[in-house]
Amino acid sequence: MLDQPTATAPNGGAQFFDALGDVTSDSLLALIAMANADPRPDKIDVGVGVYRDGAGNTPILRAVKAAERQLWETQETKSYIGGFGDRRYTELLRPIVLGRHAADDRIVGLHTPGGCGALSLGFKLIATAHPDAKVLVGTPTWPNHIPVIGAAGLKIAEYPYYDRLETRIRFDAMMAALNGASVGDVALLHGCCHNPTGADLDEGQWAQVVEVVARQGLIPFVDIAYQGLGRGFAEDAAGLHLLLDACDEVILSQSCDKNFGVYRDRVGSLFIKTARADQSKRAMDHVVQIAREMWSMPPDHGAAAVRIVLEDPALRSDWDAEVGEMRDRVNRIRGRIAAADPRLAYIGEQFGMFSMLPLTVEQVRGLRESHAIYMADSGRFNVIGMADGAIDRFIAAIVEAMNG
Ligand SMILES: Cc1ncc(COP(=O)(O)O)c(C=O)c1O
Repeated sequence: MLDQPTATAPNGGAQFFDALGDVTSDSLLALIAMANADPRPDKIDVGVGVYRDGAGNTPILRAVKAAERQLWETQETKSYIGGFGDRRYTELLRPIVLGRHAADDRIVGLHTPGGCGALSLGFKLIATAHPDAKVLVGTPTWPNHIPVIGAAGLKIAEYPYYDRLETRIRFDAMMAALNGASVGDVALLHGCCHNPTGADLDEGQWAQVVEVVARQGLIPFVDIAYQGLGRGFAEDAAGLHLLLDACDEVILSQSCDKNFGVYRDRVGSLFIKTARADQSKRAMDHVVQIAREMWSMPPDHGAAAVRIVLEDPALRSDWDAEVGEMRDRVNRIRGRIAAADPRLAYIGEQFGMFSMLPLTVEQVRGLRESHAIYMADSGRFNVIGMADGAIDRFIAAIVEAMNG
């Protein structure tokens, strides 16, 4: 009988993985774990970024369920799909995302694993073209933007975006920062439903941002992850369309995970616009190569379901109605919170799933301990994260916290 190897024998010198330090995990993931572990039955988890209906569930949309049934019955192979993923899915998204620019052949799209996959590919493409490029990122922004940009090896500079205590966009400071940026700097902008603040640029502000981006020769990178959940599909992409009017070079990361409710299926896309169709095609060839090194090709199932919804007029109109229901629910709850206290009135003027409360970290933690209400330490909360029955209790608790 062979000797058993000793379990502790190092392959070489020190234990190889001792070199790893502790991970500072994404604080939102840690918050979700904490909320899940709380045994209090009336806990309210407004930390995680998913839609919840009146009963507090995150349902599969009717149209998506029907499309998945069709897919199950008709799909004949699960053979490899190729680097571009589902090309028909990306085609069908064009009118929704690009609007009047849908037929522009200088804009080329690719199916990605969620919005995160699109962000990652977009920034890695920038790093491939210009390893020294700098990305201007609004403060605050969605926390995962920073590590994704960092992982691409790009430099990051901040521009002021929102004053949490004053509950308004720091527009003059933002414009000053963009005016001071250099040709070739990348400006990351949220298309709509700003995460974490809910504070979107209005039409006049978008026009000024577009003007400075074009004048300074900046490369706009638009992240649009919540289209349809703010004001409507066209309205939510209006700023993006103005940028496409004015700029020859635009990068756009998009997610269907929220507006189709397919979060775990990882459905997104990346669109690149350059000055010429052949240049855009070449850029996309690079993107496909970069994806090949990471995940090779995107997962098929969710995008196939989205494709079926968008191809079938009845499912398409049911999906429109369902997104309308989600949007109305978001805006109804915003109205209820805004009406509860003049200090919360700003929440009725913001859009999408998130807003920030002007609370201190101690107040946020107090809500967690005394009321089992879970939100990010920054005061960011998911407006539609709670069931109908929890809304009054949530409002009473935050007003109590604001009163100190
Ligand atoms: C601003 C923003 N961009 C991108 C994403 C990524 O979305 P996905 O889940 O499709 O990767 C999110 C998700 O929370 C987001 O809030």
